[in-house]
Amino acid sequence: MGVTIPKHVAIIMDGNGRWAKKRNLPRFMGHRAGAGKIREIADACIGKNVEILTLWAFSTENWGRPAEEVAYLMKLFSVYIKRAQKELMEHNVQFRVIGDREKLNPKLQRLIEQTEQKTLNNAGLKLVIALNYSGRWDITQAMQKLAKQVLAKQLKPEDITTETIQAVLCLADLSEPDLFIRPGGEQRISNYLLWQLAYTELYFTEVFWPDFNAIELEKALQFYATRERRFGLTSEQLEKS
Ligand code: FPP
Repeated sequence: MGVTIPKHVAIIMDGNGRWAKKRNLPRFMGHRAGAGKIREIADACIGKNVEILTLWAFSTENWGRPAEEVAYLMKLFSVYIKRAQKELMEHNVQFRVIGDREKLNPKLQRLIEQTEQKTLNNAGLKLVIALNYSGRWDITQAMQKLAKQVLAKQLKPEDITTETIQAVLCLADLSEPDLFIRPGGEQRISNYLLWQLAYTELYFTEVFWPDFNAIELEKALQFYATRERRFGLTSEQLEKS
């Protein structure tokens, strides 16, 4: 028996470029259409009592895209986050960004910090945007933190456990994703939340992100409701507990 509603949904917002190409539009219009979808999906998650929504907006590898596309995306993040502030407050949404922020321009960094501070005490949906994020980067920065603790003699190497690693990863204070959604037709994790997706149910759909809507989310939630999550145990053990 599956738990009906996932507490944490993590999405790769893929297919913006192909969505635009199909319509003979420039790629940036796909990104703009994709950004416009966030509000609808966040609203739908609130309606379904999903508690955490983590969206991947920019990977550490995306810097390799054409300079004008990267510049457009960075501009889009600033405009979008600024515009979203009022609505985040109205909908009681807590906004967070995970990823290597130091490489973002200082203005965008300040805007992110300011939005996080402003929404810190909002008790509704937690909206996490992964920006200049990758799963391997996350694990690497966690290892660096632990290595510093070992050097400072605050931690013994033999005391490093899955829990101490977990504690220094991004999302440390949030539960792991229950449902992963990847629109756009590719069936891979692509260096997203590598550690955190260990037991997550994976849902893939051909629909491009700019076409992903509340109905598509509902399909993913229905898929989730049919899954039996065993976390390495047997069905019989789960039935007994
Ligand atoms: C992947 O599609 C999408 C991205 C690299 C950018 C995602 C960004 C947004 C949806 C913008 C909004 C985000 C915020 C926080 C405002 P792709 O370009 O790889 O598509 P393709 O695989 O079809 O080429």
